[in-house]
Amino acid sequence: MPKDEIERQFSGVIGEGYEIHKLICPNAVKMRSRIGSLVGSFDSSHRSGPVSVVEIGCGSGWATMPILESREDLRVVAIDNEPTMLSQAETTLAHWLETGRISLIEADAVSAVAEMPSESIDIVASVYVIHNLLKSYRSSLIRDVFRLLRPNGLFLNGDRYALDDIHAHTEVMQREARHYIKTLSSLGRYDLIEEWITHLFSDENPDRIMRETTAISEMKDAGFRDTKILFRDEIDALVHAMK
Ligand SMILES: C[S@@+](CC[C@H](N)C(=O)[O-])C[C@H]1O[C@@H](n2cnc3c(N)ncnc32)[C@H](O)[C@@H]1O
Repeated sequence: MPKDEIERQFSGVIGEGYEIHKLICPNAVKMRSRIGSLVGSFDSSHRSGPVSVVEIGCGSGWATMPILESREDLRVVAIDNEPTMLSQAETTLAHWLETGRISLIEADAVSAVAEMPSESIDIVASVYVIHNLLKSYRSSLIRDVFRLLRPNGLFLNGDRYALDDIHAHTEVMQREARHYIKTLSSLGRYDLIEEWITHLFSDENPDRIMRETTAISEMKDAGFRDTKILFRDEIDALVHAMK
């Protein structure tokens, strides 16, 4: 993987003050719990042994938690390439780390997945990560997630999927920018306004933007079936795909 495609966007103040994300993105809390419920209802009756989950970009562990709580028969490997975020995950998941049901890997997602055997994992889940990736890096990751999954395996991505309608999308972005500025100013976190607004608009870069139809077709091209949006609220969407 070329080094310039591996980025670390959460190493500065955004990562250090990541708890603010719950306030600027209220849908994220619902998204994480939806992902947990879907993992909980995954049908594993066709096989024996624990259900294996790989989480891409676990950050502070806020989605990892509902995933772990969703069922007993679960083993999770959570990957993130940002030490600041992983140290928060160690705190959030302290109890679960003791149970041995979760391991944390510090690595970029493409490199970590590339080392995992084909058809070895039941579920790959990710929350608010894949939209951040450059398109070429994202394509490699999607193809390798397909390789990693067992037949009938499930890929769940709760993320920011840009609207196909560019005018509607721009309006949503304007509303979001206003909401970020209002929320961060009301908390006196003026230091974070520039960082989060810059981050918000870096997702709009043509090398990065993850537009719904293009993203779904890319998943189909990689081999996924039953690829659909289970939930959407403005820019936040939960995408489901099966191998
Ligand atoms: C917006 S945060 C989301 C964190 C978490 N999933 C959540 O629900 O809050 C994005 C996370 O993805 C991680 N990340 C970004 N690019 C990555 C990559 N190429 N490989 C591994 N982790 C990555 C970042 O370090 C960060 O922790």
